[in-house]
Amino acid sequence: MGRIIVVGAGPGSPEYVTLAAKRAVRQADVVVGSERALRLFRNNMRGEALPLTAHNFKQTLEQAVKKAEQGKSVAVVSTGDPGFAGLLRPVLEVVGERNVEVKVVPGVSAIQACAARALVSWENTVLLSFHDGVSEAGKKQLLTAVRAGKQVMLLPDPKAFTLKEIAKFLTGEGVNKNTAVVLCEDLTLKTERLIETTLEEARAHDSGRLTVILIKAEQKTWPKSLRCQNVEA
Ligand SMILES: C[S@@+](CC[C@H](N)C(=O)[O-])C[C@H]1O[C@@H](n2cnc3c(N)ncnc32)[C@H](O)[C@@H]1O
Repeated sequence: MGRIIVVGAGPGSPEYVTLAAKRAVRQADVVVGSERALRLFRNNMRGEALPLTAHNFKQTLEQAVKKAEQGKSVAVVSTGDPGFAGLLRPVLEVVGERNVEVKVVPGVSAIQACAARALVSWENTVLLSFHDGVSEAGKKQLLTAVRAGKQVMLLPDPKAFTLKEIAKFLTGEGVNKNTAVVLCEDLTLKTERLIETTLEEARAHDSGRLTVILIKAEQKTWPKSLRCQNVEA
C-alpha cells in the first residue's frame, strides 16, 4: 500500500518546526509543498521536491498520490497544521478510495500562535477560515458567533473577504463598532506584529501581511501585558 504523510510545518519560523516533522520529511522520497513550506525543510530533504502552486495544485497532488501508489514515500508539507485550512482535506480528496494510506504529523497552527500571543484560552472559541473563499453560510456562522458574544478566531480571504471587508460586513449587520479585535500578523516571523484595535478602526486597516483575526465581542479590554510589537524578539 502506498503511503503519504501530511506534515505540519508550523506558522513560519524554523523554531516551530517539530523534530517529528523534520524526520518525516527526511525519510520521504518525494516532498510536496508550497515554496514557503519547502523552505522550512531545506536542510532536512533528501528526496525530490515538488513545489505546489495555485496553478499546479490539483495536478501536483495527483502526481504525489501516483508516486505513493508506485511505492515511493511521499511527504506533503502544509504550513501551520494540515487539518486547519491546510493540505489534509485536498490530499484526502485526491486519495479517495485509492490504495494509499494517509498519516498526519501535526503542526503548530497560526490559530494556536495567535491565541498564545494574545494570551487567550481557546477551548470555547469559534474557529473559521475564509482562506479558500467566502460563502453566505460562512458569513452567517461568523455573524451568529459574534452576535452571541463568542470569541472568534478566523483567517481572512486575502482576495475576497479581507479584514476591511469583514469589519464592514459585521458593522453593517449592526455589530457594535467598538468590538475588540486583535490582529495577529506574521506570527513567529521577524515582522510579527500584534495590533489591538476595534471593528471600526479595522474597516480602514490594510496590511497585506499573513493575518489571524481575533474577535472578542464580550470583552472590551485586553490584558495589560499584551503589547503590540514583536513579542518574542
Ligand atoms: C492556507 S491557510 C493555512 C493555515 C494553516 N494550516 C494553519 O494551521 O495555520 C493560510 C492563512 O493562514 C494564516 N497564517 C498562516 N501563517 C500565518 C502567520 N505566520 N501569521 C499569521 N497568520 C498566518 C493567514 O491568514 C494565511 O492567509
